[in-house]
Amino acid sequence: MMEVDFVRSRFIKHFDGKTGNVYASPGRINLIGEHTDYNGGFVFPGAVDKGVMAEMRINGTEDTVMAYAIDLKDRVDFKLSDPNGPRASWARYIYGIALEMRKLGVPVKGFNIAFAGDVPLGAGMSSSAAMESCFAFGLNDLFGDNKVSQWDMVLAGQATEHNYCGVNCGIMDQFASVFGKAGCLMRLDCRSREFEYFPFKPDGYRLVLLDSVVKHQLAGSPYNDRRNSCEKVVKCVQAKHPEAKFETLRDCTWEQLDEVKDEIGADDYRRAKFVLGEKDRVLAVCDALTEGDYEKVGELMYQTHEGLSKDYEVSCEELDFLNQIAKENGVTGSRIMGGGFGGCTINLVRNDLYHQFIADAKKRFNEKYGHEPKVYDVVISDGSRKIC
Ligand code: GLA
Repeated sequence: MMEVDFVRSRFIKHFDGKTGNVYASPGRINLIGEHTDYNGGFVFPGAVDKGVMAEMRINGTEDTVMAYAIDLKDRVDFKLSDPNGPRASWARYIYGIALEMRKLGVPVKGFNIAFAGDVPLGAGMSSSAAMESCFAFGLNDLFGDNKVSQWDMVLAGQATEHNYCGVNCGIMDQFASVFGKAGCLMRLDCRSREFEYFPFKPDGYRLVLLDSVVKHQLAGSPYNDRRNSCEKVVKCVQAKHPEAKFETLRDCTWEQLDEVKDEIGADDYRRAKFVLGEKDRVLAVCDALTEGDYEKVGELMYQTHEGLSKDYEVSCEELDFLNQIAKENGVTGSRIMGGGFGGCTINLVRNDLYHQFIADAKKRFNEKYGHEPKVYDVVISDGSRKIC
């Protein structure tokens, strides 16, 4: 995580010399349960030690926001009353979350904000959710007496993606960023929103991310198409069973999916098949973890990769190559992490294989693509908080 002094020095320099309050929110990993959140299934994320830090201060204006993105050295001022909002994509997160917090009854007025982040952009580690949660947390504290609940902040972050950023995401990323706890993964039931903390200290293993550095951007990617596919399948199943209520694929059985196979077409059938399988895999991983059976956890991770690559079709050549290298090095588990279309693989590696695996991955990836993958060791950390 970044240093307060770094953010503070920029905040002072770019505004009126006064200090404000500092807030931080993390990015996330997800052990298993991909593309299940918007299908009402289970996810198994944890917050990481990389995130976004923002200094914020009420500026006394009715609705003028003065915002500085430290990493981009970009300053944008805008009014919350402007129906179009700012154009810079980073500033839209601030505009969006401010309006969503107003909808929750927080009387947001003008404020100054400077922020920086160390979540690698486009790596599938939810840099955008880290921003949303951090800004929501700050606005709740500055203007709302901290009356908005953690869950409502999660939903405000998700609504920001839907309403201002063009990504129809689920709730996993914002959930992990708000509720994260050091040393724990969290199993969330995205339908009931019940969750459980799972201490994660795999004896003899570690989690490492390999970032392909292939640009991952969900807005404009087929992410929304995948969600539409799933919703279409649910509608077909519903039409066959008017007596029951089907909200998401979570409510559909394998048999019901097979009943509509001919109507929905081969692509959507494969997508839905992946989602039903992934729901079961998350539960199987939890059981395996409880029994300390990491080899089983890893086997399920490889199955997820296969499904995301062949059935859900959100992988790319580089990620499949990293997965292949993991397999050939005897790595216990490896798969694409996050929305896909680039970004990272998450790897569960035995300690004694770690160095050989990383060295081999760097060498072979570099030979093929002309650059090494980036390596991030996973440190499972706390969620959103006020720093000072
Ligand atoms: C992105 C979305 C999440 C989730 C994942 C895939 O990270 O923001 O809501 O759908 O993709 O599991």
